[in-house]
Amino acid sequence: MLFKFPTASQAREDEVTPHGLYLSRRALIGGGAAALALGGTAFPLDARAATFQVPTTRKPADAALDTVTPIKSATTYNNFYEFGTGKADPADGAKALRTRPWEITIDGEVAKPLTIGIDDLLKVSMEERIYRLRCVEGWSMVIPWIGFPLAELLKRVEPTGNAKFVAFQTLMDPERMYGQKSWVLEWPYTEGLRLDEAMHPLALMAVGMYGEILPNQNGAPIRLVVPWKYGFKSIKSVVKITLTKTQPPTAWNRSQPREYGFYSNVNPEVDHPRWSQATERRVGDFSRRKTLPFNGYGDEVASLYTGMDLRVNY
Ligand code: MTE
Repeated sequence: MLFKFPTASQAREDEVTPHGLYLSRRALIGGGAAALALGGTAFPLDARAATFQVPTTRKPADAALDTVTPIKSATTYNNFYEFGTGKADPADGAKALRTRPWEITIDGEVAKPLTIGIDDLLKVSMEERIYRLRCVEGWSMVIPWIGFPLAELLKRVEPTGNAKFVAFQTLMDPERMYGQKSWVLEWPYTEGLRLDEAMHPLALMAVGMYGEILPNQNGAPIRLVVPWKYGFKSIKSVVKITLTKTQPPTAWNRSQPREYGFYSNVNPEVDHPRWSQATERRVGDFSRRKTLPFNGYGDEVASLYTGMDLRVNY
């Protein structure tokens, strides 16, 4: 399952990564004794010890402007409120997260509901996608994810004609996810997409990043990545996916509906009630840069919203 995207934005990771870093990373990936064979089913049983060797099929839209964020920043500056609200909290707190055994259930408006263990899911072919991540707070990163299209999983359960939306749910485990004992959000963390958004080839289920298994603080063992939407749509540590007839409730929208809508497409023209969304700061940079509509993926996704008022459907 190797997806090709014949757009102007196609290039290899070494074109957006400082060369020395690229070579050292490739050496690391290539040296992984249990690396996933290209196109392969030969994934190791203990995937936690593995690195990946997979084809890169995506890069950010503008190679001249986008440099891959150092792994250190992407793994120490996080939002994962189950482990506290500070940016540095998840890197330490999420060490408590138990990612085995781990099952995902896909149910609801489907012909073939499925519960699958993470190690079976890891046997599907993976690819690397380098995406921008734009947080609603005004910072951004560029991250090389490893994963597979969400559409592949959804096709497998055969959505019925009634399925119009897809609801996602994070693990509920207040003993280890101590943030779930607070009232910051209604737990478990939930998110949702319209079915056509979920089926879009850019929507990814990520199980790794930077050529390695996904660190706990980034949403291990499996998370959603929707690069044209604000980062909070990219729900971490997913245990349940339910296809629904109606728009599902989502954690941030429930908590502050005026501030966080269901769609949450990156939109520099619609300000957050408390701050502008016109610009962003790439983590590691001093200056701010202009935010791009749909985070720069408009050519591919704008048609999903034809005829919709995106100021109303924010
Ligand atoms: N998923 C869960 N379960 N809990 C969270 O607090 N935070 C979201 C999103 N997914 C969050 C979550 C937000 S606000 C952002 S910006 C991204 O994760 C951050 O992803 P990162 O920490 O891997 O950069």
